[in-house]
Amino acid sequence: MDVEKTKVIAFCGKGGAGKTSLCALTIKYLAQSKKRVLAIDADPAGGLSWALGLKPHKTLDDLRLSLHEAVGTKAVQSSDELYAMANYELLASLVEHAGFDFLSVGRPEAEGCFCSINAFLRHCIGKLTEHYEYVCIDGEAGLEQVNRRVLETVTHLIIVSDTSKRSIEIALNLFELARRRTKTMHCGVIINKMGDSSCQIDPLPVWGMLPVSRAIAVYDSEGRSLLELSDNEEYYTMFTAILKKYL
Ligand SMILES: Nc1ncnc2c1ncn2[C@@H]1O[C@H](COP(=O)(O)OP(=O)(O)OP(=O)(O)O)[C@@H](O)[C@H]1O
Ligand SMILES: [Mg+2]
Repeated sequence: MDVEKTKVIAFCGKGGAGKTSLCALTIKYLAQSKKRVLAIDADPAGGLSWALGLKPHKTLDDLRLSLHEAVGTKAVQSSDELYAMANYELLASLVEHAGFDFLSVGRPEAEGCFCSINAFLRHCIGKLTEHYEYVCIDGEAGLEQVNRRVLETVTHLIIVSDTSKRSIEIALNLFELARRRTKTMHCGVIINKMGDSSCQIDPLPVWGMLPVSRAIAVYDSEGRSLLELSDNEEYYTMFTAILKKYL
């Protein structure tokens, strides 16, 4: 499959707006639609694995350290050997779940002596993503933290905001930042946790509005995986209608 054909969906927005919850529900929807999905938890806090009820056995950061050590101790002697090891270890760090694969990034890329290893890993991840129809990335709050090279591969950026003025302002900044970096990416805002209050959203491209959901709150308080949320749950059907329209 061509790299261009893989849809790479990333979630960003103010802390606590609902990025992880919506990313988890997107994975549920795509996996149920029988798409080949790679889920990436790019938040060092590891919220997505929690929301999906998964435990990563190895993060990308662990993998980076093993490769670095293998180079340092000369356990691998050539770039071919390093490439083989990176690919093998990358596949080994995937958690296979019914309907999708899961990769946890762990700590963000360390600079300095890890530079060549990082470039190498990026190449391997690029190759890996070619095998999927969709890649869903749960990011940290800001776009600044999202690696520029990663952002260039994103085809759909979903900015999540609640109704607070601060959150909308952050959404606007993220939108402008994203637009400055690339014109080709689909970029939209989802207003989450709509209550009675209205909010000023002009000139943001709003893809949809979602209410405060008791079901989401209950699942969160009980630590249940959002994959188990009923397909008939109103919040889920409202959200999947947005996905159907824009993905
Ligand atoms: N529509 C909703 N109704 C009620 N609670 C919600 C809703 N969406 C998200 N939440 C709750 O809000 C909290 C934050 O949600 P979530 O973790 O998805 O946000 P986030 O943007 O990923 O946060 P962070 O920036 O900390 O990673 C969680 O407790 C979640 O259960
Ligand atoms: Mg999160």
